[in-house]
Amino acid sequence: MTCILQIGSFTERLNRGLAAEHEVLRLWETDADSLLEQHAERIEVVATSGRFGCTATLIERLPNLRAIVSFGVGYDGIDVVAAKARDIPVSNTPDVLNDCVADLAFGMLIDCARQMSRADRFVRAGQWPNSSLPLATRVSGKRLGIVGMGRIGETVAKRSSGFDMQVRYHNRRAVEGSPYGYEASLVELARWSDFLVLTCPGGESTRNLIDAQVLDALGQNGILINVSRGSVVDEPALVDALVAGRLGGAALDVFAAEPNVPAALIDLPNVVLLPHIGSATEETRLAMEELVLANLRAFVERGEVLTAV
Ligand code: 8YV
Repeated sequence: MTCILQIGSFTERLNRGLAAEHEVLRLWETDADSLLEQHAERIEVVATSGRFGCTATLIERLPNLRAIVSFGVGYDGIDVVAAKARDIPVSNTPDVLNDCVADLAFGMLIDCARQMSRADRFVRAGQWPNSSLPLATRVSGKRLGIVGMGRIGETVAKRSSGFDMQVRYHNRRAVEGSPYGYEASLVELARWSDFLVLTCPGGESTRNLIDAQVLDALGQNGILINVSRGSVVDEPALVDALVAGRLGGAALDVFAAEPNVPAALIDLPNVVLLPHIGSATEETRLAMEELVLANLRAFVERGEVLTAV
């Protein structure tokens, strides 16, 4: 049996699946230091997620660590450089969540532009008989900017064709063969866009990429949609722009310090707030769980993971 250090609790089903096939040490349930003092030498695999992470310090404390398997596509919390330095493969769960994250991004876009959540609150509060909502923003035929034309970005772009949208994107480099227009300047992309969707990875390379200048370029009629990571946005600058009315609206599934949401956003009518549910459907979570287990099996049987980052 492979000895696995599990950093945090996943779905109950995945917790059970891991424990059924392997010896699992549950880090979140005990005192980390004493667990590591006792078992560090035996641990061969770390099971984690982007949120639970795996630091260089932890990797250093595990002399016989041979693989890190992660639940989720984003691995910004995992020190991949430290793992690589010791030839430790890191696996994630790409592709299986593209559709659900893109579906949610598009839903958030429509929700924010057409004020669906706001209208729902309005009806529930009994306001319909006495007042009316301000007019909303049309979705069809608009300009969609995508920051991060990876697998999820492409899936969002595909959705837009049913809405007769023009699509442009920003990456560090143009994607070869992409049918969408490349914009080397993020500020220019924001200026051009009616809706700016963030689907880029998190981590140091994208920290605060969406700053005050980009938000001002998106402007008072523009809407920001974030299904990537909270760290990609300068959150205080976003709050300032929304409170001052310099940005039209925002739909956010991710935040800088989850599960904490900036208090100033709670009462703003033009903001949609979701609790990081991009991949949270029965079907997709099952596929992610199966991919974690498949990565583990491949590693135990053949010494390699299936979907290495
Ligand atoms: C989370 C996500 O991983 O895949 C990602 O990067 O952000 C989500 O799918 C999931 O919530 C498990 O933590």
